Amino acid sequence: MTSRVSRRRFLAVAAAGVASAAAVDPPRASAAPAGATAAMGNGVGVPALLGGRPVRTEPFPAWPIADSREEQALLGVLRSGKWGRGVGEQVKQFERAYAELTGARHCLATANGTSALLTSLYALDVGPGDEVIVPPYTFVATVNSVLLRHALPMFVDTDVETFQIDARKVAAAITDRTRVIVPVHLGGSAADLDTILAAAQARNVPVLEDACQAHLAEWKGRKVGTLGKAGCFSFQASKNLNAGEGGAIVTDDPAFLEACYTFHNNSRTRSTSGDNFSYRGTGANLRLTEFQAAVLQAQMTRLEAQARTRDDNAAYLTGLLGEIPGLTPARRYEGCTRSAYHLYMFRYDASHFAGLPRARFLEALKAEGIPAAGGYSPLHKEPFLDDTLGSRGYRRIYGERLLAEWRERNQCPQNERLCREAVWLGQTMLLGPRGDMDHVAEAARKVQAHAARLAAS
Ligand SMILES: Cc1ncc(COP(=O)(O)O)c(C=O)c1O
Repeated sequence: MTSRVSRRRFLAVAAAGVASAAAVDPPRASAAPAGATAAMGNGVGVPALLGGRPVRTEPFPAWPIADSREEQALLGVLRSGKWGRGVGEQVKQFERAYAELTGARHCLATANGTSALLTSLYALDVGPGDEVIVPPYTFVATVNSVLLRHALPMFVDTDVETFQIDARKVAAAITDRTRVIVPVHLGGSAADLDTILAAAQARNVPVLEDACQAHLAEWKGRKVGTLGKAGCFSFQASKNLNAGEGGAIVTDDPAFLEACYTFHNNSRTRSTSGDNFSYRGTGANLRLTEFQAAVLQAQMTRLEAQARTRDDNAAYLTGLLGEIPGLTPARRYEGCTRSAYHLYMFRYDASHFAGLPRARFLEALKAEGIPAAGGYSPLHKEPFLDDTLGSRGYRRIYGERLLAEWRERNQCPQNERLCREAVWLGQTMLLGPRGDMDHVAEAARKVQAHAARLAAS
């Protein structure tokens, strides 16, 4: 499979993919006939939560999308009898295709995004006593991979406008102990890489991009994941590129690649003979299977077309939501020339909704047929961090005084605010027709028009 497929083919393939998904997705039970909507664009009509007719009853596009391409790919591996990367060609082929897609020199496939991060941190020599700069607005795996190396995660507060790490605050967080900076391209939009890379270069600290949510996203025309030392991706079931589980590391540095390979292969260096029992460093088995690599190559045939559909719908939705007082779509940095829109994110200001709490707003949207979520809770305050940092091993490595200071150095008030205000729509909601976006906006307007009653109910 090559990633250089013509645009026409991409579009044809995507249409087939969406159609096939519709064909396998059983119709959901609905309160009104399929396709019926209240068609009350100005927010009039009784909210569904108060017994009215929902804006929308038909489901958003189902996920994953698969057809005979995935079937053939899986059957091919099954029948070949070559199920692991040591004997098969699928993982190697995928690595070549994904490197080409991102513009990186090298790619190593891993068992998942968490292991891509863990492997990269190992290869960057992160260990006990080190600090790693991370954002607090991210999936827990970003932080867990740091803790698994017995290093200290150092949180830099969030830029509420963009939902990304506040790059302006990174330089001040770098200390002599800082070993790596891990920006996350949250929701599929790029963190401010220019500012982060400049701060990192000034102190000679490598940048590891957590691009687990950001397939095909770009910073100034270059694919994210390729601007720092390395980039990590996830192919977990919800991701825009999906094999149920899976991950990848991309890099231009062959020595770094080999260190990653060895770690993910239980300390065994790359061997052409297949019977290599010479070890280097520590390691684990974090390899991708041939089945997953075959599915990923099939999924890649739709990736570009799906990304374009999300782009178009997201741009349209931003226009619609931007006109609703109290709803503020996440801003993209100027350098973010393409977002993956793994999440469509906006902020909710209850003061424009008669004080209706966000949880009730989400409930009301759901009743209108719009499944939205409130997103992350403040990661930097999660009790599991206290448990880990208070553990015997951490106390021995860092000492009581440094650990006591850690809390002081990790205040993230902007992140706490964002966690109260955020609203997410999942990427699959952007894969349907433009009319789906009208439904989202219509539901929000309807809830706003009746916010006082909803707040009182
Ligand atoms: C930002 C971020 N980092 C890391 C990961 C970890 O990826 P995985 O679930 O494949 O281990 C995820 C996936 O959910 C993620 O969203």
